[in-house]
This record gives sequence, C-alpha cells and structure tokens, in this order.
Amino acid sequence: MISAELPPGGVGAFLVWGDPALYDGTLRLLREGPADPPLEIVSVPGISSVQALAAAHGLILNRVGEPVLVTTGRRLAERGMPADVPDVVVMLDGRTAFADLPDTDLDIYWGAYLGTPRQILVAGDLREVTAEIVARRSAARAEAGWIMDVYLLRRR
Ligand SMILES: C[S@@+](CC[C@H](N)C(=O)[O-])C[C@H]1O[C@@H](n2cnc3c(N)ncnc32)[C@H](O)[C@@H]1O
Repeated sequence: MISAELPPGGVGAFLVWGDPALYDGTLRLLREGPADPPLEIVSVPGISSVQALAAAHGLILNRVGEPVLVTTGRRLAERGMPADVPDVVVMLDGRTAFADLPDTDLDIYWGAYLGTPRQILVAGDLREVTAEIVARRSAARAEAGWIMDVYLLRRR
C-alpha cells in the first residue's frame, strides 16, 4: 500500500491500538518496510491500556522510589511474581495467569475494555476476587466475542 498508494512526498497513517510504544509492532514493521521512497516515521503518542487502567482505578502505578515491571501473562505464568518488584502490570494474558499464583500478599487491579462503553473494573485481594474476575471475564468474552484486559498486581 505504501508503494502503491503514497505519492512522492505524501503522508500516510496507521491507527494503532493504545500507544505504539507498548507491545505493538507497527513501528518495527514500518522500519522494515520499503526503503524506496524513504519513509520519515513520526510516532504520535496515544493512551496505552496501562495508563487507562491506572486512571480508571485512580492509581499511581509505582510506590515512592520503587520500580514497575510491565510484562506478559505468559512470562508471569512461567516465572511468577518477581520477588524484587512490588508492582507488576500484566498485558496479553489470555490464560488468566494471575489465578494460579501461589502468593497470598497480592492485590489486583483489573480492567477490561478500558476506555470503551463495555469497561469492567474489579479490584481487591487477589485471593478474594480471582473467581469473580475469571467468571466476569469469561461471560464478557462470550457476550462480546472478544476481550482485552490488563491488570496491576501489587504486593502489600
Ligand atoms: C498487542 S497489545 C497492545 C497494547 C497497546 N499498544 C497499548 O498501548 O495498550 C494488546 C494488549 O493490550 C491490552 N489492552 C489493549 N487495549 C486494552 C483495553 N482497551 N482494555 C484493556 N486492555 C487492553 C491487553 O492486555 C491486550 O492483551
């Protein structure tokens, strides 16, 4: 499309879900794209689902002077909650990895369809709200035919 549709000096745009800086391949693809004509790539920042999650729950993601890790459901399932990072944001978790964590000192702030009319929020002690999140996630996915969700795990 770039080769066929863009005239010399023309401008094209890709609409990216959230912000292109986080778990999105658009910028990588464009850099690997056609070299002729040469592309000047401009990234316009958006609101990532992580920012939308924090705003929806009224959260500051980090504790004072502490780091935040942004990772995937797959890595959380493989490696568990890191011992040295108290706040972990988890994306791309189609398998509800939080439900299998052995930790007893975690709070979860979960959000689905953030920023849309379908938005769902659940927060609380992970052990107490896991069943509710799993059930609501499953029901919402069945009804809508798709789901996108993201969550913060916070060690108390
Ligand atoms: C391929 S990544 C894209 C992330 C996107 N670039 C961003 O800035 O949020 C897709 C993942 O982002 C999260 N996500 C994106 N949009 C979301 C939304 N509206 N509500 C909840 N989670 C969302 C989910 O964790 C989903 O699995």
